[in-house]
Amino acid sequence: MQIQFEAVPLEQVKADALVVPVFEKESPGGALPTEAAQTANDLAGGWIEELYRSGEFTGKAFETALLYRPPGTKARRLLAIGAGKADRFTSADLRNVAGAAVRFLKPKSAPKIAFLLDAGSPLAEQAKAAVEGAILGDFEPDRYKTDKKDVKSVDVFTVLAPGGDESLRQTLAGAQFMAEAQNLTRELVSEPANRMSPSTLAARAREVAAQYGIECQVLDEDQMRQLGMGALLGVAQGSAERPALIVLRYRPLDETGKTHLGLVGKGVTFDSGGISIKPSQDMDKMKFDMAGGAAVIGAMRAIAQLRPPISVTALIPAVENMPGSRAQRPGDIITTLSGKTVEVLNTDAEGRLILADAVSYARTLGCTHLIDAATLTGAIVVALGHVHTGAFGNNDPLLQRVLAAARSEGEKMWPMPLDDDYKEQLKSPFADLPNIGTRWGGAITAAMFLKEFADPTPWVHLDIAGTAWLEETKPYLAKGPTGVAVRTLVNVAINWKD
Ligand code: BES
Ligand code: ZN
Ligand code: ZN
Repeated sequence: MQIQFEAVPLEQVKADALVVPVFEKESPGGALPTEAAQTANDLAGGWIEELYRSGEFTGKAFETALLYRPPGTKARRLLAIGAGKADRFTSADLRNVAGAAVRFLKPKSAPKIAFLLDAGSPLAEQAKAAVEGAILGDFEPDRYKTDKKDVKSVDVFTVLAPGGDESLRQTLAGAQFMAEAQNLTRELVSEPANRMSPSTLAARAREVAAQYGIECQVLDEDQMRQLGMGALLGVAQGSAERPALIVLRYRPLDETGKTHLGLVGKGVTFDSGGISIKPSQDMDKMKFDMAGGAAVIGAMRAIAQLRPPISVTALIPAVENMPGSRAQRPGDIITTLSGKTVEVLNTDAEGRLILADAVSYARTLGCTHLIDAATLTGAIVVALGHVHTGAFGNNDPLLQRVLAAARSEGEKMWPMPLDDDYKEQLKSPFADLPNIGTRWGGAITAAMFLKEFADPTPWVHLDIAGTAWLEETKPYLAKGPTGVAVRTLVNVAINWKD
């Protein structure tokens, strides 16, 4: 999708559809809520006023009304799209409104869409949200559908910013990098496990690295053995697919501080549970268990394009968790890269095992701050549902930085406790740690387990098990992988201040 910006008067806009977000009215007889709605209304001979009067359109979020051949403009159609209540409207809402407009218009053959921003609000913020929403809304995980004759495309998305200047172009480019990176993550996650093995994921990471000028190194099984990554190897040994530890390195030309950020992503290309096998109901969804790894790859792509002055290294331990004849067994005791031993009581708690070795390795590479993203526990879905990502950390300043980044990107994340009292659950009579706790507080004990390997390095853990997959299509987003955490990770890197 080509993204552009215009400041021309509406009369001169050439597009297949001109989109105007319209809020609910405060009172039935009241004035139109925004300058943008007023302008569009005047242009089209009072059309929006009449829509309200008819009761056919109230401005509720994602309501639509479409006018063909609107008078007063060269655009072929005018789309009024509901934006909800004006006083509660955020840029996250605008992102969704833009996404909904694209998804509504796309099947109607509208290759050129123009989207009107409101002159009364900060333009850069609106432009970023609208562009991201359009690109994210356009994504469809339909790669393996062979009948595409009815699939239409949106080729050009123009942001109409009355009074906007050239500086908006940079904002637009940044938003485009961000959303395209997020769509790359979604594309990787939507691949089924027969087409996305650890080595395929490594190959895709290599491609990204080559294309965007960053370094990629992939450690194989022998190298893992030499290093002593017993936890990563233990999970991998039940599968015929060889594991890969993907390392991506971004180095700025003009490094200003001493920070070396490490991004770690869980890359389980399929989680059958291993010998502690999962029930077959919904097991197909476990192709998404590399969503953390894919988020980190997506984030690295945007970071490579946006070039912040901070070193970032990404680590993606990629494995398939299978119950093959060489698989690890419940009760096995493994030695991790850190030297700590772990009793594997449940082979389905594999994410924390591979992350333990990746986090230890990140520290040996000199990372000063760590953020991991992982579809780690079903328990976080019980706690927070499909709305918020769970955010854990051993260092409050870093946790607050990540939460602030998430807020500014409109990604919902919620702080979770990491208290030493939970450590009571992590006792094994035979090894330093078991890999599971009791039934209670499962997302927290998983995070406590990781903390054992991250300490004392400042570290944040994002449990995205509930947010990496959208169960039902929304007006602004297709069902399937969401690409959650990409924008937050990129935001942390580009706004880093030592
Ligand atoms: N990949 C799963 C987590 C998961 C479960 C994500 C359900 C989304 C939905 C993880 O590897 C896992 O299986 N965790 C176990 C841990 C348990 C054995 C302590 C879980 O959450 O059930
Ligand atoms: Zn598992
Ligand atoms: Zn898993």
